[in-house]
Amino acid sequence: MSGSARPQHFGWFLARGFGPHGWGHPYLDWDYDWTRPDLYQQSARELEQAGFDFLLIEDAPSLGSAETIDLRVRHAFGGPKHDPLLLAPYLFQATRHLGVIPTVNPAAYLPYTAARQFATLQHLSGDRLGLNVVTDTGSARHFGDAAPLGHDAAYDRAEEWLAALRELWSSWGEGALVRDVASGVYADGTRLHAVRHRGEHFAFDGPLNGVPFERGEPVIASPGGSGRGLAFAGANSDIQLALAPLNEKSVREYRAKIHAAAVERGRQPSDIRIMFAIQPVIVSSPEEADRLVAASASPTDDVLRTIAQRQSSDLETDLTSLDLDAPLPAELFAENVSQGSLRRLTGDRDVATTPLRAHLTALAKLGRISDRTGFVGTADEFADLIEELGEWGNDGVLLWGDLHPVTVHRTLDELVPVLRRRGILRREYTGAGLRADLHAF
Ligand SMILES: Cc1cc2nc3c(=O)[nH]c(=O)nc-3n(C[C@H](O)[C@H](O)[C@H](O)COP(=O)(O)O)c2cc1C
Repeated sequence: MSGSARPQHFGWFLARGFGPHGWGHPYLDWDYDWTRPDLYQQSARELEQAGFDFLLIEDAPSLGSAETIDLRVRHAFGGPKHDPLLLAPYLFQATRHLGVIPTVNPAAYLPYTAARQFATLQHLSGDRLGLNVVTDTGSARHFGDAAPLGHDAAYDRAEEWLAALRELWSSWGEGALVRDVASGVYADGTRLHAVRHRGEHFAFDGPLNGVPFERGEPVIASPGGSGRGLAFAGANSDIQLALAPLNEKSVREYRAKIHAAAVERGRQPSDIRIMFAIQPVIVSSPEEADRLVAASASPTDDVLRTIAQRQSSDLETDLTSLDLDAPLPAELFAENVSQGSLRRLTGDRDVATTPLRAHLTALAKLGRISDRTGFVGTADEFADLIEELGEWGNDGVLLWGDLHPVTVHRTLDELVPVLRRRGILRREYTGAGLRADLHAF
């Protein structure tokens, strides 16, 4: 690395999953077919050229409840989504170093199936697989669960599931794999551990029908932001996807919480890479950035309607037919609506008196990177922010967007050379897989 800044890890987050992401944006009308691998393979190669550690793909297996499905699919904001685990092999095939981290939900896979499939992919990819473990409970009914687990219980199940995978992954004991051509012995079956798991959520026998890893298990990522979510990360994760205000106090506090959770479970703070999620809008000049920010403060009704459509999908509640100039009707939202999504809509404004227009306008409003009011700025201004995060001890950032080569280029063309010159972005991979790259600095 050249330059004197602290190097950072970079991930790309395909935040709306493996679906028609970015659908309807005129600038994405490049005739890519989202159901075919080519679009993602092209983008993955660009990310590898840029020196990114990994691509992480969001997922939610469910389209939600029957009453609100139309809100999710009408503008393709909340679905459809294909399974990112099955996209991963195509991305590995198209690249040599890039890590790929599909999102998985423990509710959807029995541990033996999961351990076997992920082990197979870890071997096939040359140790480049990661798993983003999420605990969304809304999809329980698709997997035969009579009733969804509670928030914390879903994390408990995820911990049992991950421990079960690890039991299976280590079921081939030391020396079990012999591969001695001279004696004709491939493996020593007496060194395989039987594995007999009888837990609260899962019961199965091993050992796993697959050979041990040469360079470690797949990397585990987690995004949970609650106390229980942070504890899960401390105990289990190699990467924590962090969402928090990017000022020194908040960044340091977030990191301290994860580190404390790790130490509590007998791990080292340095075992976990904490990566803050950011969606930058990189433009060519400060003047262009100022223009964009100024324009965003007075959005047209068309812009507000598009935001209302997206909010309707996330909140599973139709906002599109409401009067923009009236407050939100009382008792509009059902009880199961995500409190986090609701807070994003209403901020700290008084819901009883604030017109919907004001909430949507606040969402439309962009801010400048240079004064830390938002994420619109030049490559140099964004590099300043990442460098500053590094000074506060940060490990990396997760850039968030769709995965069209168009978006990747818009974001990275000017940014990558700036980051490289400052020594913030890697120039080479270890060649030993995702885990090794994450621990190279
Ligand atoms: C960067 C990031 C990525 C996420 N990706 C997913 C995802 O792919 N699937 C999902 O169901 N939830 C995803 N989430 C939501 C989290 O799983 C979690 O529900 C949320 O952060 C709230 O935390 P809590 O569940 O600990 O309360 C993501 C969150 C963040 C910040």
